[in-house]
Amino acid sequence: MAAQDDVFKKLVSHCKEYGFVFPASEIYDGPGAVYDYGPYGAQLRNHIKEYWWKAMVQMHENIVGIDAAIFMHPTTWKASGHVDAFNDPLIDNKDSKKRYRADVLIEDYISKLEEKINKEAEKGRKKFGEAFDEAKFRKTHPQASKWNTEAIQVNDRLQAAMREKDMAALKQIIEDCAIADPESGSRNWTEVRQFNLMFSTQLGNIAGEEGKLYLRPETAQGIFVNFLNVQKTTRQKLPFGIAQIGKAFRNEIVARQFIFRMREFEQMEMQFFVKPGEEMKWYHYWKAMRLSWHQAIGTPAEKLRFHDHENLAHYANAAVDIQFDFPFGFKEIEGIHSRTDFDLSQHQKYSGKKMQYFDPEANESYVPYVVETSIGLDRMFLAVMSQAFQEDLVPDADGKETSRLVLRLHPALAPVKCAVLPLVKNDERLTQKAEDIFNQLKFSFNCQYDEKDAIGRRYRRQDAIGTPYCVTIDHETLENDTVTIRDRDSLKQDRVPVHEVAAIISSRIDINQVLRLLDRP
Ligand code: GAP
Repeated sequence: MAAQDDVFKKLVSHCKEYGFVFPASEIYDGPGAVYDYGPYGAQLRNHIKEYWWKAMVQMHENIVGIDAAIFMHPTTWKASGHVDAFNDPLIDNKDSKKRYRADVLIEDYISKLEEKINKEAEKGRKKFGEAFDEAKFRKTHPQASKWNTEAIQVNDRLQAAMREKDMAALKQIIEDCAIADPESGSRNWTEVRQFNLMFSTQLGNIAGEEGKLYLRPETAQGIFVNFLNVQKTTRQKLPFGIAQIGKAFRNEIVARQFIFRMREFEQMEMQFFVKPGEEMKWYHYWKAMRLSWHQAIGTPAEKLRFHDHENLAHYANAAVDIQFDFPFGFKEIEGIHSRTDFDLSQHQKYSGKKMQYFDPEANESYVPYVVETSIGLDRMFLAVMSQAFQEDLVPDADGKETSRLVLRLHPALAPVKCAVLPLVKNDERLTQKAEDIFNQLKFSFNCQYDEKDAIGRRYRRQDAIGTPYCVTIDHETLENDTVTIRDRDSLKQDRVPVHEVAAIISSRIDINQVLRLLDRP
């Protein structure tokens, strides 16, 4: 765990040092847990969005994309249930004045029990080697079995309290487990109460409650309220989907783990409208499709897993998370939810407008059911970065092994596709030729021209931002109009004619080769 914490810390500082992610308003010490994306981060995000949009919208004739407003009529959030039920259990420590999520305090307590068990198990593993039986150890080791039973019991109580929304029961668990404020050690707690996660603001021209607006906590509702507009203008027949990428805001009590849980983030969501009764078929279809989307861009299967929801939301009849193995363990990256006809029916009720589809085959009208896929762009960014970030050994100019930091990003996602490097700076014939090549390549993809420092250092700089190809202009270039293309991962250098460079690199960074992997009938 300590080693993984280390990797995570290194990744966070790499993101800052190399222009991927900065703490927001840093010169004022920021609002905390809010982040700005730097030049390379912004490019990487755009490429992730492009991959998602193409896979969902361009590749499906029955999915269309929209871009709805962040401000929605406030009744939207009454209808969707967010005003009444989009809450987290909040607890304050009276001494430290710090705020916590009661369920997270309890989860952390359970994790600590797990850590203690794992530490003991590690000792056993060292002592007995291959013969060590962890399941037996958990049951029979006097201390570990006690911790194991306690972890199971506390988790059962937590799940029940969250299911029943029983705030008093959560407080009781905190007292029974003698959970202290992690910062001050104080056990002087307030009662646990529900805290609504929506940010609100006020319209300029209407005073009071009437003019209250919310920043959307999910993009999905912008899709639901536009269901009829989109269906009629695009003449789509069921089943069909509406996709959207956009900002969402949640006043998270505890925002942590870098860009994993933020108060301002971006979602890529798709609502797939289906005939009632067909939702489970489509739920399984989208589960499989979304898993393939992650794998096609190079995420190894063992880094991904499904996790069924233990407590289903009142509107869902099935829900699963795709979890990714982040440096801090397996955590949700995407949700796939069968939301029944809840949202459209609620909007029909609150707006008084029919939210129905006329099915020409069945010759009847009904409110469609919905299967949703919802992925956080920032979590996908973190997953991509944490998987790409590696330290390895490469030979330097004298053939000695030196360590390098490299981002092994999929070439289609890499922010900069190619660096154009004259071998030396003090030969104008080389720099002029390199500039000419840069000026040709810039029409095809994002390139960088760099002539400063020794060639090895320039390669290292490009490795650190994940540039998959470096084109080097040397003296042979002047003789026969060829350059070398260096591959970031294999370090192989191929000599090719200058006029072929654009086509070679374009074919290797093409997102279409990834999309083709998904296009299985
Ligand atoms: N419309 C359904 C919905 O919003 P969700 O499970 O609450 O479902 C979907 O969110 C995805 O949005 C999550 O899987 C996660 O990737 C992302 N997400 C949610 N809250 C987030 C936060 N505070 N910071 C970053 N990403 C978040």
